Amino acid sequence: MLSLTNKRILLGISGGIAAYKCGELTRLFVKAGAQVRVAMTKASTEFITPLTMQALSGNRVALDLLDHEAEGAMGHIELARWADLILIAPATADFISRTAHGNANDLLTALILATSAPVAIAPAMNQGMWGDKTTQSNVKKLEEKGFLLFGPAEGDQACGDVGIGRMAEPIEIATKSASLFDKGSLAGLNFLITGGPTLEAIDPVRFITNHSSGKMAYALADEASAAGAKVTLVSGPVNVRASNLISQIDVTSACQMHEAVMECVASADIFIGVAAVADYRPAFPAKQKIKKVEEELTLRFVKNPDIISDVASIENKPFVVGFAAETNSVIENGKRKLDSKKLDLIFANNATETFDSDVISAIAISSHFEQEILPGNKNSVAREMLQIICDVMEKKNNTA
Ligand code: C5P
Repeated sequence: MLSLTNKRILLGISGGIAAYKCGELTRLFVKAGAQVRVAMTKASTEFITPLTMQALSGNRVALDLLDHEAEGAMGHIELARWADLILIAPATADFISRTAHGNANDLLTALILATSAPVAIAPAMNQGMWGDKTTQSNVKKLEEKGFLLFGPAEGDQACGDVGIGRMAEPIEIATKSASLFDKGSLAGLNFLITGGPTLEAIDPVRFITNHSSGKMAYALADEASAAGAKVTLVSGPVNVRASNLISQIDVTSACQMHEAVMECVASADIFIGVAAVADYRPAFPAKQKIKKVEEELTLRFVKNPDIISDVASIENKPFVVGFAAETNSVIENGKRKLDSKKLDLIFANNATETFDSDVISAIAISSHFEQEILPGNKNSVAREMLQIICDVMEKKNNTA
């Protein structure tokens, strides 16, 4: 449920076809409790009428920098001061260019120069225009100035092209706007999470892997992000997708996962190893497909790096949380892994009940306590796990 109670959002609309989505966006803002004022460029009024925006926002729409009547009601400087957030959606290539160069020759660009509120832009343009070097360097300039970038998204475009450039969906823009205000209980924390299986090549068409749907890691990533954390998810190949707010690094093998984790771990406060990492990989993956000639085939395996153990042994290590999916002696094996891998906390559960299931239960084990997590869907269990992680981490910090 989005919450923007009493937040003052100034929605600036520049002239692109995606302007038609601003009606829905405004509706979402108003429903979430925001006060919305709208400022439109002349070109945008070709795509959606000021009357529509006035009806949906409940406020008179500002159209012109030199409109005496509007300036009398709430002048552009006052409007710039009024806003808690200025959101330009859609932001066209031309608008981005003019803003990047500090122009103030129309209402929207002037508002942006005058404001001290955060400014977010939701770019929308043809994929070629988005990919153009000048546009990219303009966007970079704006990001360097502290502008927030919501999108653009990838997919079908109004012009018939397919690619990156379409405006992010209103719900995504509204969610990102809300998350700017909702700091959440995990705000300020950086999570690094591994998820899914790893695939270890035998030859170009075959591999060995572990059972893992990735659902638990993705649920933890989504819930941590919804609670305000910054989340990086290093994921093996899975069929689930994380929210766009999560920065995802896709990998295939354990060695790639190890490398990606080691590159990111320095900035992590909490590391959660959920991935079902293959313990061994074929020592010599064949360059060509292995032919079915011999009666028997012997493969030699070498040990993969233990990612979580390596994370737990770095200097200034994050708080390290592991998972143990066991087929027998769940608690004993969980405790053994907690110790041998030098983890702060481990969630142990029954492997056969876990795979691809939407319902999960687990036992949280740390050096000083055990707590049962009753069966629930992976999102509710993820929230409980995050709470336990925070509690144990707080205790650890207080005794350190
Ligand atoms: O596979 P195992 O039961 O040892 O996994 C226990 C924990 O260690 C899990 O959190 C898993 O993600 C992590 N792990 C790892 N790298 C490995 C093997 C396991 O990070 N090579």
